[in-house]
Amino acid sequence: MTQELTSPSPAPQAPGTGRGPGWWRDAVIYQVYVRSFADSDGDGIGDLRGARERLPYLKDLGVDAVWLTPFYASPQADGGYDVADYRAVDPLFGTLQDADDLIRTAHDLGLRVIVDIVPNHTSDRHPWFQDPALARQRYIFRPGKGESGELPPNDWESVFGGPAWARTDRGDWYLHLFAPEQPDLNWDNPEVHTEFEAIMRFWLDLGVDGFRIDVAHGMIKAPGLPDIGHGAQAQLIGAQVLPFFDQDGVHAIHRAWRRLLDGYGDARGKQVIGVAEAWAPTAERLALYVRPDELHQAFNFQFLNAPWQADGLRSVIDASLAATASVGAPTTWVLSNHDVVRHTTRLGGSLARARAATLLMLALPGSAYLYQGEELGLPEVTDLPDEVRQDPAFFRGGRETGPAGPGTDTESAPDGVATAGGQDGFRDGCRVPLPWSGELPPYGFGPGGSWLPQPADWGGLTVAAQTGDPASTLELYRTALELRRRLPGLGDGPMSWAPAPDGVLAFTRPGLLCTVNTLGHDVGLPAPGTPLLSSAPVTVDDATARLPGDSCTWWAI
Ligand code: NOJ
Repeated sequence: MTQELTSPSPAPQAPGTGRGPGWWRDAVIYQVYVRSFADSDGDGIGDLRGARERLPYLKDLGVDAVWLTPFYASPQADGGYDVADYRAVDPLFGTLQDADDLIRTAHDLGLRVIVDIVPNHTSDRHPWFQDPALARQRYIFRPGKGESGELPPNDWESVFGGPAWARTDRGDWYLHLFAPEQPDLNWDNPEVHTEFEAIMRFWLDLGVDGFRIDVAHGMIKAPGLPDIGHGAQAQLIGAQVLPFFDQDGVHAIHRAWRRLLDGYGDARGKQVIGVAEAWAPTAERLALYVRPDELHQAFNFQFLNAPWQADGLRSVIDASLAATASVGAPTTWVLSNHDVVRHTTRLGGSLARARAATLLMLALPGSAYLYQGEELGLPEVTDLPDEVRQDPAFFRGGRETGPAGPGTDTESAPDGVATAGGQDGFRDGCRVPLPWSGELPPYGFGPGGSWLPQPADWGGLTVAAQTGDPASTLELYRTALELRRRLPGLGDGPMSWAPAPDGVLAFTRPGLLCTVNTLGHDVGLPAPGTPLLSSAPVTVDDATARLPGDSCTWWAI
């Protein structure tokens, strides 16, 4: 597609512009799942214009940057993670001009913009895959096994369920670690490298401040594509290095991209970043992705998957901080995203825990990602009818597993995709469009309906209903983010654990102490200071503080 655009808008000038500590080291980045954020044209699907119109809300919320999920030309077999043209905007979401406008508006507001890049696979509608000769060079084709090649080349399973291979009309097979509509690229081919560097430059020229790299652990496959020889591969993903995930070879690609990002940024006096969506078996292996010459951030999914339990949380935090410190990188905390059960539901269906977990996350050293709607305390929607579902995992995986009630112990598989622990284990339930205002669906999402039905009882959860209510989750997030910007002790920097009763975590940051009561009941302890912010009302009597069950409090010390 060709569209004339003017020169890119400059990145925000403060804070953290240019070389120096790095704006991303303690940034709070808000994930906009474009399809479900705000709809400007009434087709029931969120779009770039809708997102642009709502940027002042994000500025007011107090985040530093937004990450936009894929809005590129795509048949939408996997919510846009099946890209047919990496340089075009899908008409569902708008035009390239809309993307340009959004980036400019964000920069005018002082917000940076990160976009997704999907290098492990393309759509099967991508022109490369459509051309049989090109496809055989640039994707992974193999002859089948069995007498007439009727069996897949190896035993690898798709993350979405079923074999990771599909047979072509010509009788050979191609690899798709995700849906069959998402063939894996052949990163042994230098043309693939060249193309992705060109795609990055295209979006950098439009002014973006970085990339979220999809399946950053997947591009390189072990030589010979060896069998795994084990059933239930879903359990192994993220638990060990596999012939298709977390191969050491991926790091050379990330090093090349870091050179590109640094070179581009240096020439323009800005810092552009890469954030890895990488599932690695240990904190140490994850830290390899953020070595000084690789990417800037890597989502900490071990923290996301940690149970609500003091000792477990503490060991995940310690392991994460030690691993990233060993390579000089900050830790990148996250609790929710478009692939996992929303943390309100995941943490036992408890909004109290979700609010406490968020305050804990925002008090830890490093950067944090928020997923749209978590600031409203949205739960996972667990009763979507089958006929509205779109997650390819639902159709390929566990349709038979049937629905489970809300708050069940749904597993979040370490592969970027929530597993089928029940209906709430699929990914549509966390992608229901945001409620902005009003008492009835679509709650101000747009002038039409919404692509997934919103619950009838979300009237009290809208942005409008929560704004100005000091007890609301939205105001809790606003205050937390405001304090995080204002207090020098938060964000990047040192932390140390402080003594605390069983079931309670306590740690200090400069000028601050954070307590987290993971128990379901009140706990008393000597008041450590003056409460600054708490996820639930905390009382201090005669120098004794009572921490409510499932709460987190920030204390000035
Ligand atoms: C991770 C993305 O977040 C997820 O939504 C997608 O299905 C897979 N990668 C495949 O691209």
